Amino acid sequence: MKKNTKLYETAAALLASGKGILAADESDATAAKRLEMVHLPNTPENRREWREIMLSAPGIEEYISGVIFYDSTIRDETSEGVPFADLLLARGIVPGIKVDLGVKDLHGFKGEVVTQGLDDLDKRFADYYEMGARFAKWRMVVTIDEDELPTDQSLKFNSLQLARYAQLAQDAGIVPIVEPEVIFEGDHSLAKAEMVTTRTLQILFQTLMEYKVDLSGLILKSSMVLAGSKHPEVSTPEQVAQATLRTFHMSVPHEVAGIVFLSGGQTPKRSTDNLNAIAKMGPQPWPITYSFSRAIEEPMLRAWGGKKENAEASQKALLENCKENSLASQGKL
Ligand code: 13P
Repeated sequence: MKKNTKLYETAAALLASGKGILAADESDATAAKRLEMVHLPNTPENRREWREIMLSAPGIEEYISGVIFYDSTIRDETSEGVPFADLLLARGIVPGIKVDLGVKDLHGFKGEVVTQGLDDLDKRFADYYEMGARFAKWRMVVTIDEDELPTDQSLKFNSLQLARYAQLAQDAGIVPIVEPEVIFEGDHSLAKAEMVTTRTLQILFQTLMEYKVDLSGLILKSSMVLAGSKHPEVSTPEQVAQATLRTFHMSVPHEVAGIVFLSGGQTPKRSTDNLNAIAKMGPQPWPITYSFSRAIEEPMLRAWGGKKENAEASQKALLENCKENSLASQGKL
């Protein structure tokens, strides 16, 4: 296989020590939930203002190596007409793009879904590359339910979609982030979460290797392994760290460029504390850092409150939160 060193350079930049990735890739529909927190209607102007506050925060490049956009966001620009992607590039931050188109029910498998978005993906990658994107994200959804879910069929089918996406990304000179999200909502135990995440990652990496995806030019975005949100026991950071790292050692090949975490509905503090506990157990064969959305955005949204006069306070809150996550990614909290 021909090696694409550009992919490795991009992956290394994204995984630079002390930095992480901001997932600002809410669809326009999901953005409504964030803006609701600050009692703002979900208009293009409000979405733009919120994103501009984040992306223009002074010093953010110290902690953020890349930002994942949604289609409408990578096409958006500041109030002064600077495209968001150019704003990032000028500060040495790598623009990224979420390319999956959400999920649909998986025929014959109640409660399971398959991710959409492969049609014309080669053309979409070419357009996004032109706009400056050098990495991408595709999310697969894994639900734990009693003894039955997830099925191996669903894991295999979704892994195939991810493998095709990853091939097309690498052909386009774009680093694929593969994101199998094991959903935190639910009453499953920590042991069950560990079993399911291990199985998911084993099937995913087996499929990626079968289809000759270059693992050195690919990043895994994973859930942390923890008991479900409705389980009576709350997993401690030490338990989360041990279960998560055991899972990775059982399933993630060492060639993979790195691993980043989603926050998955944990509070910002819990996400940061768990990351810190994981990093403290390092070093590992892969760089490991954060790629949070809600756990990075919630504090800055609260400080903003949708009011122009709070923009600076909001940027300060964002910086403080990013700094904490940066320290946590190095196990220094
Ligand atoms: P959260 O950190 O809010 O889980 O979002 C990360 C993400 O990219 C989900 O696809």
